[in-house]
Amino acid sequence: MTVSSSTRVGMALMIAGLAPLAWAQNSIVDPRSLAPYVPTPLKVVERMLQLAGVEKTDTVYDLGSGDGRIVITAAQKFGAKAVGVELDRILVKSTEDRIRELKIEDRARILNANIFDVDLSQASVVTLYLLTSGNETVKPKLESSLKPGTRVVSHDFQIAGWVPIRSETLKGHGRDHKIYVYEIGKHSEQ
Ligand SMILES: C[S@@+](CC[C@H](N)C(=O)[O-])C[C@H]1O[C@@H](n2cnc3c(N)ncnc32)[C@H](O)[C@@H]1O
Repeated sequence: MTVSSSTRVGMALMIAGLAPLAWAQNSIVDPRSLAPYVPTPLKVVERMLQLAGVEKTDTVYDLGSGDGRIVITAAQKFGAKAVGVELDRILVKSTEDRIRELKIEDRARILNANIFDVDLSQASVVTLYLLTSGNETVKPKLESSLKPGTRVVSHDFQIAGWVPIRSETLKGHGRDHKIYVYEIGKHSEQ
């Protein structure tokens, strides 16, 4: 996979166990960025989609799709339609190449766009791995554009003021991963 230099630095810092630095270094790259590129471990990706109850009839949007692993897993393993939204052109290109290789173009696609410029009205599941501040920024868009019953799954960061319908902690290599599942119309403000 071809990755940008900022992405390589972020991944190197993650591998070195310096996650907070990895989170910080990317935010200076693009002023529109809500979070740097840090991939969700594949085991956590699968569990996020399971906990959201993703099925073939779902349309999953990953907001800030990174290398496309959530989009690809949703389409390949769960048979759902999946759309990624990603600012980083290089990550978009590598995800598109992978989608073509896997021949899942009928179910998976990536938009090289800012989350705020994308129509989410067709989503039945939304996945997030943004910071607490990113979730806070994106929350009004979720509230105004998602239909009742849409599940929103967030890795590690809660959506302030929303009450999850379920949550789980997964043991990872070196640290735990939290998964929060919300449902539009069922999460009441705290
Ligand atoms: C922590 S990574 C998560 C990647 C992937 N969702 C995963 O869980 O493996 C966050 C991603 O969001 C992207 N991103 C941040 N702000 C964005 C925005 N406003 N519009 C689109 N993508 C954005 C970043 O470039 C980065 O790739």
